[in-house]
Amino acid sequence: MTTKSMDKIMALAKRRGFVYQASEIYGGFNGFWDYGPLGAMLKKNLREAWWQDVVLNPCGGALGPNGEPVRMVPLDTCIIQHPKVWEASGHVAGFSDPMVDCRETKARYRSDHLLVFGPQSGDRQGKPYFAYLPDSPSEAKQKKKAEKAFGDVVSLELSKLPTSDFPSILAPEAEKVGSLTEPRAFNLMFKTYVGATAGEDDVAYLRPETAQGIFVQFKNVVDTTRVRVPFGIAQTGKAFRNEVTPRNFTFRSREFEQMEIEFFCHESEAHAWYRFWRDTRVAWWKSLGLSGENLQLREHERDELAHYAKTGAGTSDVEYRFPFTAPGFGELEGIAHRSNFDLSQHQKTSRSNLEYFDTERGELLPNGSRKGEKYLPHVIEPSAGLDRGVLAVLCEAFTEDPSRPSPELLRLHPRLAPIKAAVFPLVNKEGMPEVSERLHAELFKRFGRQGFIEHDVKQSIGKRYARMDEAGCPFCFTIDGDTAKDQSVTVRDRDSGAQERIALDQVSAFLTERLGQG
Ligand code: GAP
Repeated sequence: MTTKSMDKIMALAKRRGFVYQASEIYGGFNGFWDYGPLGAMLKKNLREAWWQDVVLNPCGGALGPNGEPVRMVPLDTCIIQHPKVWEASGHVAGFSDPMVDCRETKARYRSDHLLVFGPQSGDRQGKPYFAYLPDSPSEAKQKKKAEKAFGDVVSLELSKLPTSDFPSILAPEAEKVGSLTEPRAFNLMFKTYVGATAGEDDVAYLRPETAQGIFVQFKNVVDTTRVRVPFGIAQTGKAFRNEVTPRNFTFRSREFEQMEIEFFCHESEAHAWYRFWRDTRVAWWKSLGLSGENLQLREHERDELAHYAKTGAGTSDVEYRFPFTAPGFGELEGIAHRSNFDLSQHQKTSRSNLEYFDTERGELLPNGSRKGEKYLPHVIEPSAGLDRGVLAVLCEAFTEDPSRPSPELLRLHPRLAPIKAAVFPLVNKEGMPEVSERLHAELFKRFGRQGFIEHDVKQSIGKRYARMDEAGCPFCFTIDGDTAKDQSVTVRDRDSGAQERIALDQVSAFLTERLGQG
């Protein structure tokens, strides 16, 4: 396994207009990222792939563990909800990270992200611990200092040190020992004020997850549609978390997008649905080109489980081996059995009855029907990050091949590629541009709703191919000297660089087959 360079991936993402630093002309804004023209399209394609495979054609028509097609309905709820929603969900009281501040550099860290170098012998002899953030420039600097002080060193988790040791820690980038504060809980929700008075009574929050909007509308969905449990409600949308240490490009951002399913089922079926969703979601990420060796499903240990998941079927993460986590993995999507924690919290706090009346359960009556059963359904929640998905797709697609005229390329899955095809005249004369313009117009009409269809007449053909390779365009069609003679064009495959000739009037059919839709 070779680890790809995150710096090169970020440079390409900027160069080709996938991802820009937010507010870049003002020096950027930590934890916020904007998507450029190709990035916006890539993100939209991933969101739409999810929407098609989750909402419109759930699981590609596969049957659920109940032997029936999976039922799913969409929803679009507000970013700002009634503040009581976040009290009921537990976010006001408990959605926090332990953080430490450096009084000297004014930097803020998550205490569970910081490590320290100490002596292998365990005896510091009055010398300090050297704190660092793994994979940051501080790691090498602090290691050098620690080795000078102790010789052989070991890494320890800061959160495992007693607070009495804090005065003896040299913080990353600090000059003086003892500048780190003790850890304290920091609520990750962004606060805002609703209304003109903007007093403490008007405090509201930007949602830290889209899920709660689904729970609070569960009853309305049941009452106004014909869905029956088991069924899911799906929603995509922005979420906001005031992360203490946003980092690793878009991986941990303060504004990001989620794609969440809350799947409601009877408690007795929760284990089966949990297993179904776990396997379905890994298969989905694979279908979009994330390779098996970089993808894993990790079952949470009991002590990792959220309070509401302790007694249930469990929680698993779909994890991807990002360059900055390699050889380890980072979370892409969580699949959790949330029991009926959220519905029961909202029922209690709102005093609204959120119970579902299931006419297919309960005692069998003499007339052959069922008595029915009232219950608060259990929930299986597959919750994916769209921005993390885009990042994983970019990391997976990024390929270096110094032997090619385009040494860096993006092997994006055709379904996700922002540019679906490019049409070039070999040279901008001899009747070639007229043919390429006609072909471009035809392809644009047919495939323009799926993505960009490029037409480019400038620069050498090698440079044009290289640009398309970096943009992840899967197919380039070139009109050359033979086109006028035999009505054929070359089609160049991005991944192999190989070219073959196909008939000019077969280009649309070729693309239809390769892109999967017409
Ligand atoms: N409703 C459950 C929930 O929000 P989560 O594990 O906190 O669960 C779900 O978030 C997904 O959202 C994660 O798997 C990740 O892909 C994405 N996500 C969470 N925090 C993020 C952040 N700060 N930046 C980017 N994506 C994030």
